[in-house]
Amino acid sequence: MSVGKITQTNNGKVIHKEQNTIYIDEQNKIVTKTLGPRPGSSSVVNIVPEWVQAYKIFQTINPYVVKVKNLISSNSFTMEYVPNLGTVDEWLQSRKGKRHSITRLELFELTKCIMSVIPSSMEMSKVLDTLNENDLKRGYGKHSLWVNSDMHIHNIVCVSEGDNPQFKIIDPDSWWIWNDANHNDDYDQPHPLDQIRRMNTMITNVINDRANLY
Ligand SMILES: Nc1ncnc2c1ncn2[C@@H]1O[C@H](COP(=O)(O)OP(=O)(O)O)[C@@H](O)[C@H]1O
Ligand SMILES: [Mg+2]
Repeated sequence: MSVGKITQTNNGKVIHKEQNTIYIDEQNKIVTKTLGPRPGSSSVVNIVPEWVQAYKIFQTINPYVVKVKNLISSNSFTMEYVPNLGTVDEWLQSRKGKRHSITRLELFELTKCIMSVIPSSMEMSKVLDTLNENDLKRGYGKHSLWVNSDMHIHNIVCVSEGDNPQFKIIDPDSWWIWNDANHNDDYDQPHPLDQIRRMNTMITNVINDRANLY
């Protein structure tokens, strides 16, 4: 995965990726992410206030996720700046060559972080049931599932290493609300279990790929 083109600014840097632009203001500890159109899709990104509202609840449930601050426009939002040693792949790259370069404590904490995805999604999905569907207007209530569709080591940063390792899941827009009410084909009824399986597969891939965590 490409790191993107990086431009230095007075306060930090700007990362231009294929789709998105990430403005990192290290001085004011704020990151602004602007989403570009998705590949293979002509539809423009539309971040809605309800998503920010939901994510802000989620960030109180899962301590490993980066905190979102404000919605700026339909394709842009701000979040906390997480000072880091790089994404997990970048961080481990610097230790390459040594066998078992990740230490036991780092591996334990990183595993907890990765594994937090499913239980916290289930907890958040229960919360979605309690939100008023009419208020939220987008069928976010019953039959919804809070899901992550982009779990991999490029979306986890190492915050600290060694004896007190810490990791954070970045890329908040990887989380969204799946709703079976969006589908009405009786013969192809989607089921929440399919979404849980997808998340489980992504997590399993992170853990199983020997090149990832060595
Ligand atoms: N909140 C943050 N704090 C610090 N760095 C960040 C933050 N969010 C993103 N970054 C940096 O920007 C890069 C791309 O961010 P990400 O949200 O994963 O974009 P994309 O969705 O395009 O993959 C990350 O790998 C990281 O280096
Ligand atoms: Mg990413």
